[in-house]
Amino acid sequence: MSASLPYPVLPETPAWQALADHRTQLAGTRALALFEADPGRFDRLALSLDTEDGPFLLDPSKNQVTEETYKLLFDLAEEAGLQGAIQAMFAGLEINETEHRAALHVALRNLSGRALTSGGADVMPEVRKVLDKITGFVAAVRGGRWTGATSKAVTDVVNIGIGGSDLGPAMVVQALRPYGRDDLRAHFVSNVDATHIAETLHGLDPETTLFIVTSKTFTTQETLRNARTARDWLVGRLGEAAVARHFVAVSTNAEKVAEFGIDTVNMFGFWNWVGGRYSLWSAVGLSIALSVGMEAFTALLGGAHAMDEHFRTAPWADNLPVILGLTGIWNATVLGAPTHAVLPYDQSLARFPAFLQQLEMESNGKGVTLAGLPVPTSTAPVLFGEPGTNGQHSFYQMLHQGTQPVPCDIIVVARSHHETADHQPMLLSNALAQSEALMKGRTAEEAEAELVAKGMEAAEAKALSPHKAFPGNRPSTTILIPRLTPETLGMLIALYEHKVYVQSVIWGINAFDQWGVELGKALAGTILPQLQGDGPADGHDGSTAALIDLLRALRAPDAAGDAG
Ligand code: F6P
Repeated sequence: MSASLPYPVLPETPAWQALADHRTQLAGTRALALFEADPGRFDRLALSLDTEDGPFLLDPSKNQVTEETYKLLFDLAEEAGLQGAIQAMFAGLEINETEHRAALHVALRNLSGRALTSGGADVMPEVRKVLDKITGFVAAVRGGRWTGATSKAVTDVVNIGIGGSDLGPAMVVQALRPYGRDDLRAHFVSNVDATHIAETLHGLDPETTLFIVTSKTFTTQETLRNARTARDWLVGRLGEAAVARHFVAVSTNAEKVAEFGIDTVNMFGFWNWVGGRYSLWSAVGLSIALSVGMEAFTALLGGAHAMDEHFRTAPWADNLPVILGLTGIWNATVLGAPTHAVLPYDQSLARFPAFLQQLEMESNGKGVTLAGLPVPTSTAPVLFGEPGTNGQHSFYQMLHQGTQPVPCDIIVVARSHHETADHQPMLLSNALAQSEALMKGRTAEEAEAELVAKGMEAAEAKALSPHKAFPGNRPSTTILIPRLTPETLGMLIALYEHKVYVQSVIWGINAFDQWGVELGKALAGTILPQLQGDGPADGHDGSTAALIDLLRALRAPDAAGDAG
C-alpha cells in the first residue's frame, strides 16, 4: 500500500508482531511484481465454491499479499480462537455476550435436517413451523386466495420496517427482480420522513395493498409511526374492519403487535437469537417470499446454507469467508486503510453496499472488546459503494489518485439476466479494467512518454505528467459470480455475514450487539416534545438549544412563508 498511510501500531502479541514484521518486509513490494515473479499466483490464491451455474470465485490476488501473509493471518486467527468461535456459533452458544443471546441465523437456512440448538433446545421445529406458515400465506396471496376486504387480490405489498427489517429484504427483492411477477409489486418504507410513505402510497389502491409491519422489537419509533400512518390511510378509505385483511406483522413481540391492533393470527414470528441485520432469512423475508415465490426463497436459503456448510467445514486456506475476512484484517488493521469500497458490477445489486453498511458497520463498528476493554487495533473500516460503472464517474478518481488507498471488493457477474447487445461484455470489461488499473497504476515517466507520443510539446508533457500518474498497488478483491440467482445471492450474503464474524473474532469484539444506536434514540425522545411544545428547550448544549428554538420559530403556523 502507498506510504501515505501511517502504519498502525499493532498489539504486542507474537502473531500481531509477526504480521507487523511481514508488513515491513513487503513494504516496497507491488502486487504486480508478485504476479511477474509467480505465474501461478492467481491459481494459488483464488478459491471457489461450485454452484449449478459454475464456480463462485474469490480472487484476493490483487492485494499486497503472499501465501506467507495468509499463513501469518492464520496464526493470528488461531491465537484469536477462530475455530472455536465458528463452532460456538453453530452450536448456538451465547456468542452475543452482552445481550446473552446466541446468533443462530444459520438455523434459518439449515436445510440439512440436522438439529441446531439454542439454550439446549432444538430450534429447528419452530423454524420449520414459521416457514410452513409463510409458505401457506405466500401461496394464498400469490394464488389470489388471500384477498383484501373487498375481495380483490393483492397487487402491492408494502414492507414497513427499518434497518435490518428493511435493508436486507429491499436489497434482495431488487436483486431478484427477474424472478418476480409484474402483477405483485413490493415497496419498502423505512424513513420516518413522511415523504417516504406519502410517495409510496401515492398511486396505490387500498383495496389491493397489503402492509407488512416488520419490526423485531415492535417498539421502533419510525416503523410504528409509518405503520400508524398507513393504517390511517387504509381505514380512511376502507374502514376499520379492513385492517385484518390488509395488515400482517413480522416480529418477536406478540404483545406489542396485538397492542398495535394486528391480530396475532396474522403475525409471523422469529426469535431473539436472530439479529436484525442477519434476519432476512427469517419471516423478515416475507416480502421477498411474496415477490419471488417460495421456490426461489428456498433457493436463497439453500445458497446461504451451502456457504454456511463451507464456512463450518472447509480448511481456512480454502474457506471463502475466512480468506475474505482475513484479507480485510490485513488491509484495514495491519496496513491501516480506514475505508473499504464495495463495487458491484451489477445494477441488481445497487442496494448491496447499503445493506453491507449496516451488516459491517453496525456489527463491527465497536471500540471495546468482549471483556469491555478498549480494542487495541482499528475495527470496521468505513464502508461505501455504488454499482459499477456509475461509481467510475463519481468517486473512482479518489480510488485511483487520492492520498488514501481504499481497498475494494469488485463483484462481477458473468452472465446477465438481460444479455442485450454488448452491454454485459462492456460492463465486465470495465470491472476488470478498474481492478487492473488500481493495481498497475502508471508512472509519471510513462504518462509523459504517452503525451509526447501523442504530439505534446516536451515541457508541457513533463508538467502534466504528475497529474496523469497513478500510484497503483491499490488493493482489490474480485468476487466472480456465474449468474445472479437466488442460490448465488444467498451465497454472497452469507459470505459477507461470516466475513464479519471472522473479523469480529480477530478484533475480539461482539458483532451482534448495537449499543451505539441507543444514545441518539434517547435524545430524540427528549427533543421531540420540545420541538412540538413551546416551553424552554432545557438540558441542551448551546447549538442544539438554539437550533430547537430556530426550528420552532420556522415551523410556527404564523412563520413567514407558511401557506396555511
Ligand atoms: O437502530 C438499530 C436497530 O436496532 C437495528 O439493529 C435494527 O435492525 C433496526 O433498529 C430495526 O429494529 P426493529 O426490527 O426492532 O424495528
